[in-house]
Amino acid sequence: MRYSGLVDRIAGEGCAAWDLHRAARAAQAAGRDILLLTVGDPDLPAPVLARDAAVHALHTGNARYAETAGHPALRQAIAALHRCRTGLQDTQPENVVVLAGAQNALFTASLCLLGPGDEVLVPEPTYATYPATFGVTGATVVSTGPAPRASSLRVDPEALARAVTPRTRAIAFANPGNPGGAVLTRAELEAIADIARQHDLWVVADEVYADLVYEGEHLSIAALPGMAGRTITIGSLSKSHAMAGWRVGWAVGPAGFTEHAERLA
Ligand SMILES: Cc1ncc(COP(=O)(O)O)c(C=O)c1O
Repeated sequence: MRYSGLVDRIAGEGCAAWDLHRAARAAQAAGRDILLLTVGDPDLPAPVLARDAAVHALHTGNARYAETAGHPALRQAIAALHRCRTGLQDTQPENVVVLAGAQNALFTASLCLLGPGDEVLVPEPTYATYPATFGVTGATVVSTGPAPRASSLRVDPEALARAVTPRTRAIAFANPGNPGGAVLTRAELEAIADIARQHDLWVVADEVYADLVYEGEHLSIAALPGMAGRTITIGSLSKSHAMAGWRVGWAVGPAGFTEHAERLA
């Protein structure tokens, strides 16, 4: 039997990282001291409030279908969080779509923004799912190197600028980064935003670690002038609330994007 071309696009180098991840997990299980630089999986318990609410929901039968774009109260809460983080006071629940984890939100954003013939710029080092998540659409994933310092794990805006072609449609990166943990400065984000505005690009800003910043401040690129309409901000409870297994993530973007994302969902 034959499979679709899509499955071929999530094979190859983009997936090899997961073979390494599985091998590392197996070595960990065998007692070796291994640091995983793939997924961030906090080993704390989820907040008591969330656990109690989930148990209550199960006991009271509140576990049926929610609205496709997410439970209205949750969309409200995420919109409020986004207003607070970005200062974008007109962010409404209509700008939010709730999905099964940030990974699903990244995949949804990818399918909504990219297609064959497009290019998406992804700075290295990158989260291990990105090559397949964006490449699955048929778009070419163009990786740009880290800033030119031996020890640097930061996004290099100059490398991004050099990589733009007429086919470029989007820039995708995590801030704070994984692996590496770099929290991008205002100047770095402004330089990335300049490129996006100048070439009319989408930005996929994966901010799942935004609440785990212990030095300095985290800035959302969506907050910069002219960026709200071209930025998809990805969030999740996996890291901030140690709820990775609960699969609660979201995307915040222009209402046109969330309409497409809802239909896709
Ligand atoms: C940068 C980044 N984005 C997304 C994810 C996936 O998060 P979620 O559990 O919400 O799908 C991870 C998980 O490690 C991550 O490190």
